[in-house]
Amino acid sequence: MDDESRQLLLKGLTSYPKYIPTWYNYDELGSELEDKCTINNTGYYLRRSQIAILETSIKEIIPSAPYDFSLIDLGSGSCSKTRYFLDEMLLRQKRLTFYPLDISEEFLMKTVQQISNEYGDRLSLSPVAANYENGIEKLRSANGPKIIVWFGSIINLSYDDQVAKLKLISSLMTDRCHLVFSVDITQDKKAVLKAYNDEAGLEMKFFQNGIIRLNNEEHSHIRLDKFQYKADFIEDSSPEHMSYFRAYMQAKEHLFYSIPGLNIDIEFEKGENLYLHEGAGVSCKYTKEQIWNLTARAGLLLTDTWTDENQHAMFCRCKVA
Ligand SMILES: C[S@@+](CC[C@H](N)C(=O)[O-])C[C@H]1O[C@@H](n2cnc3c(N)ncnc32)[C@H](O)[C@@H]1O
Repeated sequence: MDDESRQLLLKGLTSYPKYIPTWYNYDELGSELEDKCTINNTGYYLRRSQIAILETSIKEIIPSAPYDFSLIDLGSGSCSKTRYFLDEMLLRQKRLTFYPLDISEEFLMKTVQQISNEYGDRLSLSPVAANYENGIEKLRSANGPKIIVWFGSIINLSYDDQVAKLKLISSLMTDRCHLVFSVDITQDKKAVLKAYNDEAGLEMKFFQNGIIRLNNEEHSHIRLDKFQYKADFIEDSSPEHMSYFRAYMQAKEHLFYSIPGLNIDIEFEKGENLYLHEGAGVSCKYTKEQIWNLTARAGLLLTDTWTDENQHAMFCRCKVA
């Protein structure tokens, strides 16, 4: 972990309320856990809905142009959705340069190896193992028309950070570039809680992975059984906000833990919460008006949207305004 990330982790653990940032869940185990739970958790509607949109609309989502694009994938994970872009773009152009970017280096390299085996020489692969800020700096040298995709990830940031990251992404874009990102537009509380607080506890395992990682890498002995895992859904339809899921651990008693690798001690009063994400919540859900306002605040022009028939997911395509 670089110095900057370490400072962000320290900030979360020493803030009030305390939190572990979501990106910290994504070591190799966390990336695998998340990938598996989006497939194995039968109530998890978002993946299915996104795939349904890609199956029917990929030809439209990728804009037609008299020139070739390169493809950037922010928070690429297993690239399961990105493969629809790779397949369609390789039908339209002879060669394609692909830049998958992810904070989870080992998982990124595994995915890159699989993609290289699947696609061969027609795809020129340039992986970027970094967080969004550092990775986008590295990508400034990628000239020419670009399609930038960002799937299932903006929803895990705080509102201000969503605006900031969209602005940062737009700084990479010219009038021959498009950003395509996906969001969750589900407003049904029951469906959300079924998906994110599943009976088998798959999502809980992913959310708790930051604590497991702290114990493994920073030599703490934080005991999961000393906390109660809690999750809820906060609805907010005001135009400049969004609804969100909250996941947190509530201390069952007064607790004190040393984290030697970070050189800190942390203490919990009985009933105190440790949030498993930064900001008010995670896995945000939006109305169309909220998405419109979010992109406008970031200086982007929302040109097209696609939704599935169940109205769970939406793909948004933007240009620089
Ligand atoms: C919800 S997953 C989405 C994965 C993939 N795009 C998909 O739709 O299946 C979020 C991905 O973003 C990566 N990620 C999380 N925080 C990040 C950050 N700050 N910088 C770069 N990548 C990040 C994670 O490692 C993970 O692969």
